[in-house]
Amino acid sequence: MNNSLKGKKIVLAVTGSIAAYKAVDIASKLTQADVSLHILLTKEAAEFVTPLSFQNISRQKISTDLFSSEDNAYLQHLESTYDADAFLIAPATANTIAKLAIGIADDLVSTAFLAATCPVIIAPAMDLNMYDNPSTQSNVKTLQKRGVIFAGPEQGRLASGKVGRGRLMEPNNIIDLLKTTLGAYGDFAGKRIVITAGPTVEHIDPVRIITNPSSGKMGFALATASRDRGAKVTLISGPTYLETPFGVTKIDVKSAKQMYTAVLKSVANADILIMAAAVSDFRPTNPHTAKEKKSIAKLTLPLETTEDILASVPDNLLKIGFAAETEDVERNATSKLSAKNLDLIIANDISQPGTGFASDFNQVSIIDRKGIITPLPLLPKSDVAWQILDVILDLNP
Ligand SMILES: Cc1cc2nc3c(=O)[nH]c(=O)nc-3n(C[C@H](O)[C@H](O)[C@H](O)COP(=O)(O)O)c2cc1C
Repeated sequence: MNNSLKGKKIVLAVTGSIAAYKAVDIASKLTQADVSLHILLTKEAAEFVTPLSFQNISRQKISTDLFSSEDNAYLQHLESTYDADAFLIAPATANTIAKLAIGIADDLVSTAFLAATCPVIIAPAMDLNMYDNPSTQSNVKTLQKRGVIFAGPEQGRLASGKVGRGRLMEPNNIIDLLKTTLGAYGDFAGKRIVITAGPTVEHIDPVRIITNPSSGKMGFALATASRDRGAKVTLISGPTYLETPFGVTKIDVKSAKQMYTAVLKSVANADILIMAAAVSDFRPTNPHTAKEKKSIAKLTLPLETTEDILASVPDNLLKIGFAAETEDVERNATSKLSAKNLDLIIANDISQPGTGFASDFNQVSIIDRKGIITPLPLLPKSDVAWQILDVILDLNP
């Protein structure tokens, strides 16, 4: 299972902002992630998006009236917050933020907020002047001091046509922040993980390089899964086109030497190192400072080996390596595991079509120090990441 939201009880409160329509998308994404969703709307929110939209997405009756006698709306909505895992207000108006800061409880959202004991995430959306207003700023600070987490707002184009801070955080980022918040209770909570990803690049001359087809997808999937399970993640990545996972600290490197330096610095405070990067084994001994002309007809390129990163990392943390092989996969991986004193090695056969480099899927075997081999079927890289973390957890990092 690679869905950390599955089965979580989330209250989604929607208030009267022009951005309320984006809450429909958030509700839909949370429903697709098998969240047990309870939705609250202010009366003003219902001016922007009809309760019917939310009702159909969540298959629950939506009430906006605190005093509705129907279905005991007050008690039913209040109770939904008692055992919630998180309370998300998106979008949150200046008005609702002000009410929450001083404890007014005059509608379903503000009443339920006072009753909530779970983590609260507020995603404001308003005009930039409304957000910058000292009253709003003071209310935000008051709530932050009490432990409320603020998601944005982001800079961008606002409904007024102005550009500034006040835009609702992108729904995907709000959901990632929700996952990160819930991760505090995950099985990797408090663990610090350093993950490397992507290719490295070694220059032959200013315009020519030695690199490899690694896309970084496996390392990025591991970073996302680790974050969702509560780890504090540092991702050291060679050049990729992938978006940095929300909540993950990314260090960009190019050469094997830069990756070596970044890894040795980052592991000083880490519990686990996962080397999923495809680090070049060789680099030109004397890279040319000027572009080499084609007219030289023949170019001989002396190469030297690059730093052995895994072998240089101290043994006081768990070390997990990857072995991309084309033949004798498990035997070669096992000898790499012992040569570099690793705790686990993830072997993949990159000669198989549809797996390994650049693919969204991977077929790997996880090998431990005792030689126990756990072969996994062909799976999306996000599932492979989740399963690798399960095995790491068994080693009590
Ligand atoms: C068209 C329109 C758009 C609005 N957009 C926002 C907004 O984005 N953010 C905000 O804080 N208030 C906005 N307001 C003002 C709120 O709707 C108003 O303060 C309302 O009382 C908020 O109620 P609630 O916080 O109970 O949902 C808007 C009002 C209108 C009429």
